[in-house]
Amino acid sequence: MNAVLTPKIDIEKIRGEFPILHQQINGKPLVYFDNAATNQKPKRVIKALTDYYQGYNANIHRGIHTLAEKATSAYEDTRVAMWKFINAQHVEEIIFTSGVTESINLVASSYGRAFLKEGDEIIISGLEHHSNIVPWQMIAEEKKAILKVISITPAGEIDLDHYKKLLSDRTKIVAVNHASNSLGTINPVKEIISMAHAVEAFVLIDGAQASAHLPIDVQDLDCDFYCISSHKMYGPTGTGILYGKKKLLEKMPPYMGGGEMIKDVTFAKTTYNDLPYKFEAGTPNIADVVALKEAVLFINELGKENIAAHEHNLLQYATAKLSALPQVKLIGTASNKVSVQSFIIDRIHPFDIGQMLDARGIAVRTGHHCTQPLMDSFGIEGTVRASFAVYNTREEIDQMIEGLKRIIGFLIK
Ligand code: ALA
Repeated sequence: MNAVLTPKIDIEKIRGEFPILHQQINGKPLVYFDNAATNQKPKRVIKALTDYYQGYNANIHRGIHTLAEKATSAYEDTRVAMWKFINAQHVEEIIFTSGVTESINLVASSYGRAFLKEGDEIIISGLEHHSNIVPWQMIAEEKKAILKVISITPAGEIDLDHYKKLLSDRTKIVAVNHASNSLGTINPVKEIISMAHAVEAFVLIDGAQASAHLPIDVQDLDCDFYCISSHKMYGPTGTGILYGKKKLLEKMPPYMGGGEMIKDVTFAKTTYNDLPYKFEAGTPNIADVVALKEAVLFINELGKENIAAHEHNLLQYATAKLSALPQVKLIGTASNKVSVQSFIIDRIHPFDIGQMLDARGIAVRTGHHCTQPLMDSFGIEGTVRASFAVYNTREEIDQMIEGLKRIIGFLIK
């Protein structure tokens, strides 16, 4: 693990920004450790949603009236914020989608249908979420392409030697996550990308678990596609982005047909709009896109390095405390991790642990975390997963550990 850094943030002040945290669950103060599933929203994000619906709800890119212009400009402001957030070269490389799942489906469907041929190979890793497995299986089946899977090590890291062996001139796409949702492993994506480019394959990075925790510079990474969900970075549910290199996006056919994505429509022929609108058919999720900008500002104002340092301290603290419980087995012990710790307890089902922690006001996720093949590779059905955000504290970790001690004492005689 990296050295402990000193974050320059005031956690009590930050907690004050999150109304949801200040409530009792089952008679106990809420401890929210399910941040990898979705993290909570600061007041400024919630206010942006209310302001939009109360003040300027209107359809965008269509009307010339004042409300339509205000809504359009707020929507496009978020595109600019996301463009800077990931340091893309061109603003039109930012396409709004419903989130990472739609972004990956868009690429698999649009790029895959147009360019994949029988016998071409797609490489994913054993660490992937179902949303970065199933769309590739679907397009592979349709195009008679072959899906290959990079093995992972017992610590839950990508086996780069195996990856090297899988790469060949048949490889067309490599799709891996930046950080694993189940184990927290941070993958060496820059290296993975450059190895793929050496065989002229394109690379898609699933950034769902990275956007709130890690610096993202798509030009430095040189990835071809990068996917983000708003709701995992303190923004609203139901929106996110696909970043794609302009030259690639320009070659790709539209994913959905409808309003907004066209230049001209006749019954004989339709011509398509320019980027990014070619991929934004229909009325988009305007309110949530508008509010996403506040989430970006929230992260930027705190500084990702401060967020990461605080979360890293929490992860180290939790890992040490969990390791001290002899009945607990950690799942996912990579040397470089975001703030996620999965574990199992011998002879107690993860679901029972989750329910008993919930009775103490502590929210964790239990199960396979939409990574069934990964759980299979560990020979387990699922884990208990505690995932930390910037508003979490050591005292909350102590409460979870105390709860686990009680559960172990009660259920294991
Ligand atoms: N992908 C989300 C998780 O890891 C839902 O929990």
